[in-house]
Amino acid sequence: MTKRILIQLDSDPQPSSFDSVVAIDSGVDHLLRYGQVLVSGVVPLVHGAMFTRGGDELRNTAIFVGGSNVELAENLLAACRDAFFGPVRVSLMMDANGCNTTASAAVVAAGRHIPLSGAKAVVLGGTGPVGRRVSQLLAADGAEVRLTSRSLERASHACEQIIGKSGQASIQPLAVDSTHAVETLLSDAQIVIGCGAAGVELVDQETVERMSRLEVAIDLNAVPPAGIGGIEVTDKAKPLGTGVAYGAIGVGGLKMKTHKAALQSLFESNDRLLDAEEIYAIAKAIG
Ligand SMILES: NC(=O)c1ccc[n+]([C@@H]2O[C@H](COP(=O)([O-])OP(=O)(O)OC[C@H]3O[C@@H](n4cnc5c(N)ncnc54)[C@H](OP(=O)(O)O)[C@@H]3O)[C@@H](O)[C@H]2O)c1
Repeated sequence: MTKRILIQLDSDPQPSSFDSVVAIDSGVDHLLRYGQVLVSGVVPLVHGAMFTRGGDELRNTAIFVGGSNVELAENLLAACRDAFFGPVRVSLMMDANGCNTTASAAVVAAGRHIPLSGAKAVVLGGTGPVGRRVSQLLAADGAEVRLTSRSLERASHACEQIIGKSGQASIQPLAVDSTHAVETLLSDAQIVIGCGAAGVELVDQETVERMSRLEVAIDLNAVPPAGIGGIEVTDKAKPLGTGVAYGAIGVGGLKMKTHKAALQSLFESNDRLLDAEEIYAIAKAIG
């Protein structure tokens, strides 16, 4: 039987050991790891994948794009796509810094407690790679999303990028620069997802507990203090105020299952492209 080969492209000096372990645990036979990959170096790596196995066997080679720099990874993914021609291609997955699997798991967790269509959602710290994807996926399922930043300019820029890329229009940028502003913003929210930088508190526990319409609060920051006060990293559907809470580890089980299932699905055909929305569909199927 033809061996399954995963080619791991990473812009960091050392390709992510996390991504390598998950790849091996997902059942790939051989993992080829490349670090410090530049856009200018992508074509020969992709051509090596395209021209070695023909016909149906092409599906047994796939490419994973990772690394800590999500913007660089997006450029690497685009360069991989550009290197293909016609049907001669291999499947691709992008999950730099865990952005797509983490965002997908968080949105699926929220959807367990409230129908996303029409729900009012606030994405705190929404300008980072995870927050942008959380906002995109919530909006794709019909939520009314408010994406926050300390800067209106950065929030607006993030919204413009999401809308330009995905066409999701129900995302509104907001600057949040005080406890009062957060409380006002959260007063009618049913979903709040904290996507701020590690170790930064975005809203305190007392404010969260005063949210009278809260159904679900999710904090993706695993480094103390919590991004959303009152949420522990291991919380999984734990009562908080009028709703339930999840911490980073609480959504981590689904994130890991999604990552593995996505990698396995790469080998089902030679033309898979797994980015935010496709990985979200896989997470939803897992539930
Ligand atoms: N569980 C997992 O597997 C996993 C995987 C990936 C990420 N994560 C976690 O998910 C969260 C989001 O990840 P990310 O990579 O998207 O985050 P990020 O880019 O590091 O930060 C997100 C946003 O946080 C805001 N921020 C930064 N410093 C701040 C401060 N001092 N006060 C208030 N806001 C601040 C910034 O927004 P503005 O400058 O626009 O205000 C920034 O765009 C992080 O906590 C990360 O550790 C977890």
